[in-house]
Amino acid sequence: MVIKIAGTGRAVPSTRVSNKELAEQIDTSDEWIRSHTGIGARHIAPETISVSDLAVEAARGALKLAVERAEVGETDPEKLAETLDFIVLGTTTQDYYGCPPTCCLVQHQLGAKKAAAMDLAAACSSFIYSIETAAALLLADPRRKRALVIGAETLSRITNWNDRGTCVLFGDGAGAVFLEKQDGKQEEPGEAVSSGRRGLLRTILGADGSGWENLIIRRGGSRNPWKPGETVDIPPHVEMNGHAVYNFAVKVITETIEQFMEEESLTIHDIARIIPHQANARIIQAAGKRLKIPEEKFYLNMEEYANTSSASIPIALDELNRSGQLRRGDLIITVGFGGGLTYGGNLIRW
Ligand code: UT7
Repeated sequence: MVIKIAGTGRAVPSTRVSNKELAEQIDTSDEWIRSHTGIGARHIAPETISVSDLAVEAARGALKLAVERAEVGETDPEKLAETLDFIVLGTTTQDYYGCPPTCCLVQHQLGAKKAAAMDLAAACSSFIYSIETAAALLLADPRRKRALVIGAETLSRITNWNDRGTCVLFGDGAGAVFLEKQDGKQEEPGEAVSSGRRGLLRTILGADGSGWENLIIRRGGSRNPWKPGETVDIPPHVEMNGHAVYNFAVKVITETIEQFMEEESLTIHDIARIIPHQANARIIQAAGKRLKIPEEKFYLNMEEYANTSSASIPIALDELNRSGQLRRGDLIITVGFGGGLTYGGNLIRW
């Protein structure tokens, strides 16, 4: 059995805030943000839009594209949603704190009546973890056939807009992929690429919990709950040790790509595109330099969207897919890192 990506979708709020607009509110500049990160703008969800709304829009796009491109034997996206076995939503910014899982709201809105639904929290690596989780669940039971994997965030809600060290980095958005299990042979490790089969070939996942404090929302959880009567100056927000995360990111991106290359006997010429988590162009340039991989192999869109955490890789996948930049048979690598600290990558034949 093989796991094929049969549709992709994305949702990005229409409100766009450029670096220049941000610089009118805090002590920063377009020049600093661009030169230190490659970011030019970010999209921010209005108060009326939550993570589940963005996730549903991206999911509907993935279902519709799967139908339009005749990738599945259905002609109606709503009927296709009814056939889903489960939905996995990667997010750090749930609609409601802890309960209910945001994915249940998504399941309800999609009318995916028979689908089980779960949220997965691995910070910015959530999409990479979620797609592997969904694939493993599909392969675990012959009765399961179809799943949706979504990465969705409203990071603007957990941003301290007075901290120029973090607020210039983040944006809101969602991306989704529709997965279908199809007939095919599951190879031994090291054989996935040579077999030529399409779909998700293999995944690398990892975590280094010693770095837990480097990217953190300190208040609101069971360690530091809000106390009755306490005055809140700033709502729960992300704090970051930028240098530590930067160094970790360059290391794990390099190692993950190297591991795929070595264990699957690949050269960079075999890879059509690398889709990294869109946090900082300098991180990608540093990893590319270490690996001697030309910059154009990496697909970057943080200039328009900034860092959308779990959503950044599926948004990029959808852009590449819809613009015809991915051809049938192309080998692609996704690679990412995030709070936890977590990291990972997926090797996919399109
Ligand atoms: O999904 C995971 C998310 N996190 C990441 O990927 C973060 C990884 N880390 C980074 O991307 C980088 O460390 C940052 C972009 C966060 C920071 O870049 P940097 O080149 O490491 O800058 P820095 O923190 O060393 O700061 C350099 C200077 C400081 O001024 P002084 O102390 O040298 O006078 C900062 O105060 O730049 C200042 N600075 C800014 N200036 C203008 C920091 N943020 C800003 C800003 N605008 N937005």
